[in-house]
Amino acid sequence: MKKLIAGNWKMNGSLQANAALMYALLLDASDWACDVAVCVPPTYLSQVQGLVHGSRLDLGAQDVSEHEAGAFTGEVSAGMLKDFGVRYCIVGHSERRHYHQESDATVALKAQRALAAGITPIVCVGETLAQREAGLTEEVVKRQLAAVVHTNGHCISEIVLAYEPVWAIGTGKTASPQEAQQVHHVLRTQLQAASQHADRVRILYGGSMNASNAAALLAQPDIDGGLIGGAALKAPDFLSIVAAAR
Ligand code: PGA
Repeated sequence: MKKLIAGNWKMNGSLQANAALMYALLLDASDWACDVAVCVPPTYLSQVQGLVHGSRLDLGAQDVSEHEAGAFTGEVSAGMLKDFGVRYCIVGHSERRHYHQESDATVALKAQRALAAGITPIVCVGETLAQREAGLTEEVVKRQLAAVVHTNGHCISEIVLAYEPVWAIGTGKTASPQEAQQVHHVLRTQLQAASQHADRVRILYGGSMNASNAAALLAQPDIDGGLIGGAALKAPDFLSIVAAAR
C-alpha cells in the first residue's frame, strides 16, 4: 500500500511563509515514493490550491462542518472545501475534541459530510495520558472508531485513519514503534470486522513524528504513513519524513 504523509499546519502560516515552504516542498517532489498532502487553515486554501496545481502534492483541510449548509456562522462546509480542490480533511483531531468539545458522534458526522462531498476524511483517534495509564487505550480508540464505523457503514474503507496518542502530540514524546503498532493492529482488526476492504485503509501515526523516528515507525506492518504537526512547518524536516516513507 502506498504510504501517505500529511502535514497538519494547525493555526500557523502566512501568505509569505506558506509560499516559501511550498516552494521548498515542490522542488523535491519528483523523488517521492509516497502520497504527500498539506492540511492548511481555510483562509489559505485558495493560495495553496494555486501552488499545488498540477503537482504531486495534495491539498487538505483541518476540519469541516457537520452540517451541509445554512445558518452556522463561522463554519466551513464540505462543499466549500471541495470548491478549492481539497482532497483530504482531518476530522476529530484531539485539539478539536478537547477545545471544541467534539463528541464521537459529531466526528462521525463530519467524516460522513466529507465522504459525501468526495473528500477523504483523515479520522483521528487517540487516548490521553490518564487513559493510557489507566489501561484504557484500546477501549478508547475502539469506541472512537466504532462511532465512525456506525455512521459510515460500508464507506468505512474510503477513510484514512490516524492514531494520535494525545500525550505524544506536540510534546516531543513519541509512542515507540511497538506501542504504536500494537494500537494500529487493534484498529486494523476492528476495520476488518466492519469491511471486507479494510486492508486498503491507510492507518497513519501522529504525535511528535520527526526526521529521526519516522523510519522506525513507518517500518511497522500496520503503520501506513504519518500525520505530522510541528515537523511539517520546516521543509527539511518534513521532507526527511517523506523520504523515509517508501
Ligand atoms: P505533532 O502534531 O507532530 O506536532 O506532535 C501531530 C498532530 O497533532 O497531528
